[in-house]
Amino acid sequence: PYIIAEPCVDVKDKACIEECPVDCIYEGGRMLYIQPDECVDCGACEPVCPVEAIFYEDDTPDQWSGYVNANVEFFDDLGSPGGATKVGKVDYDPPFIAALPPMAG
Ligand code: F3S
Ligand code: F3S
Repeated sequence: PYIIAEPCVDVKDKACIEECPVDCIYEGGRMLYIQPDECVDCGACEPVCPVEAIFYEDDTPDQWSGYVNANVEFFDDLGSPGGATKVGKVDYDPPFIAALPPMAG
């Protein structure tokens, strides 16, 4: 699957949401997360993110490798809801993301 990394934190542009044909990009407290079992690897989200936060999993830059697991961990409790629109914002982020200093550019 594709994943969302650190540039999304405190930015949340959400252009990606409009492009996803399966509505698998979910909103957390400080960033958005791609449900790895629901993403069909269409890649439509990747070029529209203005801060280049989206990567194919294997192409994630090393300094953001922790975000691959973060996009999994975010769904530990949520599971696979089958659509982000009906879920809405979830006020949660994996601990290392919640602990980041304010990132707003
Ligand atoms: Fe975040 Fe970029 Fe989407 S900033 S919400 S990954 S368009
Ligand atoms: Fe959706 Fe992006 Fe995956 S558009 S299907 S999250 S590659």
